[in-house]
Amino acid sequence: MRVPIIGGNWKMNKTINEAINTVEDLKTKLEGVEGVEIVIFPPFTALKMLQGLLQGSNIGLGAQNMYYEEKGAYTGEISPLMLQDVGCRYVILGHSERRGYFGETDELINKKLKTALSFEFTPVVCVGEKLEERKAGRATEIVEAQVRKCLQGIGPEEVKRVVIAYEPVWAIGTGETATPSQAGEMHRFIRKILKELYGEELANFIRIQYGGSVKPENIKGLMKEEDIDGALVGGASLNTESFAKIVKGSRRL
Ligand code: 13P
Repeated sequence: MRVPIIGGNWKMNKTINEAINTVEDLKTKLEGVEGVEIVIFPPFTALKMLQGLLQGSNIGLGAQNMYYEEKGAYTGEISPLMLQDVGCRYVILGHSERRGYFGETDELINKKLKTALSFEFTPVVCVGEKLEERKAGRATEIVEAQVRKCLQGIGPEEVKRVVIAYEPVWAIGTGETATPSQAGEMHRFIRKILKELYGEELANFIRIQYGGSVKPENIKGLMKEEDIDGALVGGASLNTESFAKIVKGSRRL
C-alpha cells in the first residue's frame, strides 16, 4: 500500500522569522502523526534555519526548484549540492508557475529530474492542464505528453522515488478544486501511462499527489479515490492549523 504524501508548497511566502514560527507550531501540531509522509517546501532563504529545527521530527524538508548543473556560471540558480548542503531531501520540479511564468519546458524538467535522482532527492514532478485545454477536451492528451516527456530516459529503479503531482492549472489558487472524481479519473489515467512505461508493479508503487485548492474540507473526499496518494498544498499550507488538518485528514484509515 502506498503511504500518502502531503507537501506544503509555501511558494514565495514567509521571511525567516515567519518560517521559524510556522515550523515550531507545525511540529507541535503534527507530533506523533503517523501513516503519512509530511514535507514542507519553504523559500530557499529559510532552508538552512529550518534544517536544524526539523531534525528528528516527522516533517521532511524540500526545495521548490533546482537547476540541473552542480555548479558554474548560472546566475540566480540553485544547485543540487547547495540543496543537499541545507538538508533538503525533496525537490519540486516543473511546477505550473515555473512552466507558466518562467518558461520551463518538459525537456528542462526532464534534465532536472535526472540530476535530482542522481543526487538521491525525492523529486515531485508537476503536471497538469490549463483551463482552455480542459475545455477543448485535451486534458488527458496534455498530461500524457507531460508525463512521458518528463520521465524520458528514467529507469525503473529510479522512477520508484519519483512522486508525480497532478495539478490542474485552473484549480491552483482559484478556490476551484477538481472534484474527487475528476481528479481520480486523471490519476487513474496517469497510472495507466506509468503501467505502459514501467509495468503494473512499478506503476502501483509510484505515488501521485493531487494539487489545486486543497483544504481541510476537501482532503477526505479526495483521499477516498484509490489513485490519489496525497496532496501538494499551496495557500492552505501557509496556515499551520489548516495544514495540520489536511495532513491528518489524508491518512488512509
Ligand atoms: P493552492 O493550494 O494555493 O491552490 O496551490 C496549489 C499548488 O500550486 C501547490 O503546488
